[in-house]
Amino acid sequence: NKGKYEHYMQKEIHEQPESLTTTMRGRLIRGGSCKAKSVLLGGLKDHLKTIRRSRRVVFIGCGTSYNAALAARPILEELSGIPVTMEIASDLLDRQGPIYREDTTVFVSQSGETADTLQALEYALENGALCVGITNTVGSAIARNTHCGVHINAGCEIGVASTKAYTSQIVVMAMMALAIGSDTISSQSRRETIIDGLFDLPSKVREVLKLDQEMKDLAKLLISEQSLLVFGRGYNYATALEGALKVKEVALMHSEGILAGEMKHGPLALVDETLPIVVIATRDACFRFLLMYSKQQSVIQQLHARKGRLIVMCTKGDAASVCAGGSSRIIEVPQVEDCLQPVINIVPLQLLAYHLTVLRGYNVDQPRNLAKSVTTQ
Ligand code: UD1
Ligand code: M6R
Repeated sequence: NKGKYEHYMQKEIHEQPESLTTTMRGRLIRGGSCKAKSVLLGGLKDHLKTIRRSRRVVFIGCGTSYNAALAARPILEELSGIPVTMEIASDLLDRQGPIYREDTTVFVSQSGETADTLQALEYALENGALCVGITNTVGSAIARNTHCGVHINAGCEIGVASTKAYTSQIVVMAMMALAIGSDTISSQSRRETIIDGLFDLPSKVREVLKLDQEMKDLAKLLISEQSLLVFGRGYNYATALEGALKVKEVALMHSEGILAGEMKHGPLALVDETLPIVVIATRDACFRFLLMYSKQQSVIQQLHARKGRLIVMCTKGDAASVCAGGSSRIIEVPQVEDCLQPVINIVPLQLLAYHLTVLRGYNVDQPRNLAKSVTTQ
């Protein structure tokens, strides 16, 4: 049932404040006078000790699920101190990459039925790793065959383009990082700030959804373009990849997410006065990431110097400073805790992909050649 919406993708984008609330329900502990704020993930609590002892965490997934894991990787590394590596399921299988008994492998899948991810799970089980599932579908093959895991509880997702599952996956993996790191006293205040940020997140998502009309206007400007680049770094490299995946998947427009730090190593050659480029340059709250914000400002200056056609996503109030030295279109978003910023930043790009698709006259919920659940290899 699409309710008041025209398409499932549109409905699923707009219901994210509610889906995120459901994802977190019963899992955040507010704390009290003598009790700290904390996270309770019923499906992981008996395995946290084993995870903490592992030599490495390996995130495994495909498409949007891979991107969600990429968004959560920095906070898991920070709070756990465990090295985290990323694997696209098919590539791990192609290489028969090494997986050890001392590894924790985390399988991320909305459907829980993706053939590549499922086969990678069998491979990890054979190699004796602890296998953790992050799935949206209770009773799915991945949920059943993992040793333990967390259901993201985002509700049924019908649009082929994953939207609400992406934001719920990031939140679950951030909560997983909080749970794994909960035995470290030195990061207690950092964890409590993130938990406060989680409580506030649905209302911030509601705020960013107000950009709907603005994104529709932007889509009108981009309707006949051949290509769109998206630059991001740090927590928001994943946002660049995921924003570009949405645009290519539903709007059928070539789009590429680029790690901004790689700009001078090739992509800069593409920049001219015509190619539209989205640059994600939101401010990260944590001090050590202020450096990253200024790095992204320097990327913007270099793109301006080449007369690049920029659309800059920045934190509310930063428009003037971020665009000094050239004109750009601006997308202003609310600021949240750094590791949660990808949940906010993807929303305008989801809206942009949605409106571009409708304006270009393509099928939003069933893009050509794609299936919701890829059960063949
Ligand atoms: C569970 C119940 C929930 C109930 C809550 C009350 C289910 C599905 N969930 O939620 O209805 O309100 O307790 O305390 O009955 N798992 C995997 N692999 C996965 C995902 C999950 O093995 O990919 C396992 C978990 O380790 C766990 C079980 O499935 O044993 C349920 O996981 P989850 O729904 O996340 O647990 P709770 O949030 O505790
Ligand atoms: O069900 P899964 O999360 O395992 O699916 C993985 C990908 O097939 C999926 O995310 C795909 O990339 C989406 N269509 C993206 O919107």
